[in-house]
Amino acid sequence: MKRITLAKPDDWHLHLRDGALMGDVVGMSARQMGRAIIMPNLLPPVTEAKQAVAYRKKIIESLPKRSSFNPLMTLYLTDNTTKKNIIDASNEKHVFAAKLYPAGATTNSDSGVTNLKNVYPIIEQMQKEGLPLLIHGEVINNLVDVFDREKVFIETILGDILRSFPELKVVLEHITTKDAVDFVSKSKENVAATITPHHLLSNRNHMFLGGIKPHYYCLPVLKRKVPHQEALIKAATSGSSKFFLGTDSAPHDKGQKESACGCAGIFSANAAIELYAEAFDRAAKIDKLEGFAAHFGADFYGLPRNTETITLEKNPWTVPDNYDFSSSKVIPFFAGESLSWRVLY
Ligand code: DOR
Ligand code: ZN
Repeated sequence: MKRITLAKPDDWHLHLRDGALMGDVVGMSARQMGRAIIMPNLLPPVTEAKQAVAYRKKIIESLPKRSSFNPLMTLYLTDNTTKKNIIDASNEKHVFAAKLYPAGATTNSDSGVTNLKNVYPIIEQMQKEGLPLLIHGEVINNLVDVFDREKVFIETILGDILRSFPELKVVLEHITTKDAVDFVSKSKENVAATITPHHLLSNRNHMFLGGIKPHYYCLPVLKRKVPHQEALIKAATSGSSKFFLGTDSAPHDKGQKESACGCAGIFSANAAIELYAEAFDRAAKIDKLEGFAAHFGADFYGLPRNTETITLEKNPWTVPDNYDFSSSKVIPFFAGESLSWRVLY
């Protein structure tokens, strides 16, 4: 049986939610990941450092005993974010970044930013403090096709942000297009991107062929295999330190996804590193998994790499059909399908 040992990975983009669901899912990430950047899109959103600290405390209290999982907190930018919010966040040791959601872009983004220019003074403060800006990179404009929204964001908004704030640390989150891969590859070292397991392992055909599959619906939406999925696989497995692991694992109740207006989000925390191992193995690049999963994100955020390790064994197993949590039922990504690699606990 083939085995590989890696430094413990980190998840640089994770939705843990709150309440009962958080308690149900947090242990899954904590088993596989040393740290995770925790998304702030709760209802109401996490807009101030003190809220982030209170949310972190709840996460820590929900962890399994003896877990060393470290939640790295983020702020949610709104039209009302102040420079003081940013200074307070920079002075708070548990806050590591601020997240930009264009208003209406995705789940719980209604309080997001309505016009990017509104927050330029805030972004300037972030550049000054060295606080990374994490971007949901899609334009919200009904005239722009949903499959083009990332590309148009890059062309019309991201370029201007980077020209205006050349030293700002930026992570373009959950990239889905060749356009994003090319843009990030050409940018300076202060610009990086996360890539999800679902965008590596699927494309828009998975969502539509044989009937509509709501559990493949996420935002930014899955794109074409050629050139987009292929470009993401190439970037993730290239060994470039600009691309690193961020699952965007986002649990939703089965009923809310299997609905006339199903919500966006794919749950993958239950098998995150195994899903990435599958994608890297299929590309014959398993040797590049450790850099992507455990080194490049930490280096970008200026944090030490994890010293703990995890071991994966090539021993096929089947992902559960669903998780019957205390207050919801969640269908995971790859439900009922086989994965080649399994973590040894
Ligand atoms: O599909 C998504 N789900 N994309 C996001 O940006 C947010 C997430 C969620 O919170 O459910
Ligand atoms: Zn997300």
